[in-house]
Amino acid sequence: MNKQELFQTAVAMVANNKGLLAADESTGTMGKRLDSIGVENAEPNRRDYREMLFRANGFGDFISGVILYDETIRQNAADGTSLVKILQDAGSIPGIKVDGGAKALPGRPAEKITEGLDGLPERVAEYYQLGARFAKWRAVIDIDEGIPSRYAIHTNAHALARYAKICQEGGLCPIVEPEVIMDGAHDIGRCQEVTEEVLEVVYRELHLQEVYLEGTILKPNMIISGKKCATQASAEDVAQKTVETLLRCVPAAVAGIMFLSGGQSEEDATKHLDLMNAGSDLPWKLSFSYGRALQQSALSAWKGESANVAAGQQAFLERARANSQACAGTYSKAA
Ligand code: 13P
Repeated sequence: MNKQELFQTAVAMVANNKGLLAADESTGTMGKRLDSIGVENAEPNRRDYREMLFRANGFGDFISGVILYDETIRQNAADGTSLVKILQDAGSIPGIKVDGGAKALPGRPAEKITEGLDGLPERVAEYYQLGARFAKWRAVIDIDEGIPSRYAIHTNAHALARYAKICQEGGLCPIVEPEVIMDGAHDIGRCQEVTEEVLEVVYRELHLQEVYLEGTILKPNMIISGKKCATQASAEDVAQKTVETLLRCVPAAVAGIMFLSGGQSEEDATKHLDLMNAGSDLPWKLSFSYGRALQQSALSAWKGESANVAAGQQAFLERARANSQACAGTYSKAA
């Protein structure tokens, strides 16, 4: 394992108030996004959309890296340049989603286990050759009556650690993503309780499987009210409880923490991050690795029309800049 390379990659991912663009939607998920603007889910359309984002002028000022999907890491832009090269030229690091998706957990179909460990060392080696320097694996933990079970938490944590170790052996810095889903009716206290249990088990597994923490990034959910909860916690409460949970559960050796947006609005995701960074001194950098919260406005502005490329890029850069300010805790002050 090349610890120095892993550490350098992790540090570069959170350096200079930059964050990640999660552009690793599977073909099915991308279909939903394109459907929302009336665009067919065809390979050239997926390519055109992502090329528009990656070529936004100043992209690398705010975006340290991009999580790609298997199709995208192999794709060329309309002029034949590989999308990987476009990112590298912009000063951004290519990364890759390597999990095979969350499937029904055997014996507990209401819960999920993320698959994709078989053949992973070989895939990691290929992705490294293709230019990737970090990877992502997302575990999904749902909150509902009687769940998550201990079984779901442990099997997912075990798989996350196996993935992380395999990636490190192959030179890819692993993003460890245990996502506690915000879709339920639970309150913020329940989100905090579940997230703390999940993180505690995840770090125990990472330790047991001898993962080099300095060469990892954590991608957690924020501590937030369930979407259907009648009483929505304030932004200040979200920021305070999220920092509290991270301080309780995440070793200071971890190189950086880059949140998912998880269904928050663009503005909420930015504000919450800003409040956290405007507060106290923390042992790790807190940054973003947003999918929807970086792309919603850009997608709506683009609408699949080449005439709208500049508008799509402008909308994207606006969110990217706002989130970069949030990394410094200066977003609200600048607004
Ligand atoms: P969202 O920010 O849309 O939750 O996506 C981030 C991500 O990569 C989830 O795995």
